[in-house]
Amino acid sequence: MENVVVFDHPLIAHKLTIMRQKDTGSKDFRQLLTEISTLMAYEITRDLPLDYVDIETPVAKTKKPMIASKKLVLAPILRAGLGMVDGFLTVIPVAKVGHIGLYRDPKTHLPVEYYFKMPADVADRKVYLLDPMLATGGSASAACTFLKQRGCKDIVSVNLVAAPEGIAVMQHDHPDVKIYVAAVDEYLNENKYIIPGLGDAGDRLFGTK
Ligand code: PRP
Ligand code: URA
Repeated sequence: MENVVVFDHPLIAHKLTIMRQKDTGSKDFRQLLTEISTLMAYEITRDLPLDYVDIETPVAKTKKPMIASKKLVLAPILRAGLGMVDGFLTVIPVAKVGHIGLYRDPKTHLPVEYYFKMPADVADRKVYLLDPMLATGGSASAACTFLKQRGCKDIVSVNLVAAPEGIAVMQHDHPDVKIYVAAVDEYLNENKYIIPGLGDAGDRLFGTK
């Protein structure tokens, strides 16, 4: 799959299996999503460029590496994307956080926008678009379109579970957007839920069902 990276870390796989189980409650679901997001953030920042800068230790002057660009923004898609923010901020505490409010219409399954707030200089930033679920791909694709309308040129999508259908939509609509995902599942059911998936991520995260 072009432009798709599937995390192969055993800790991520193990934690995701616990999240999938229907008896895992909101408290553990939230905690596990934060833990996985921390591990994901560590992995996906591997390619951030470094600059060598002059520093002074207590005993010598030297040149040492620092991240070249600190211009990152985390863009969670509400609601479930919120569950990934704390993990990312653990690893990238200086990142700004923008919010994209989208929900899937229960009948049409199409995304409906209700909120969009980004840092003023978002066009100059690398955007990590956060959402645990990439199902039809409608929400992620719409979020990328909104970000591009604001001038964003460097967007990375980070997801926990994806359906092949959602990946195909993203590859068609936004071939420039790299996708990182913990698992690619089998298919979407008639209600556009990922199978086997983990159910409704927002409801499980916030205990709303
Ligand atoms: C879920 C999920 C994604 C979207 C994925 O959100 O968090 O945003 O569905 O589906 P798609 O790929 O088919 O667009 P939902 O619409 O249930 O909103 P919520 O997080 O507020 O419950
Ligand atoms: N949204 C979810 O939360 N879960 C799915 O399986 C599909 C969309």
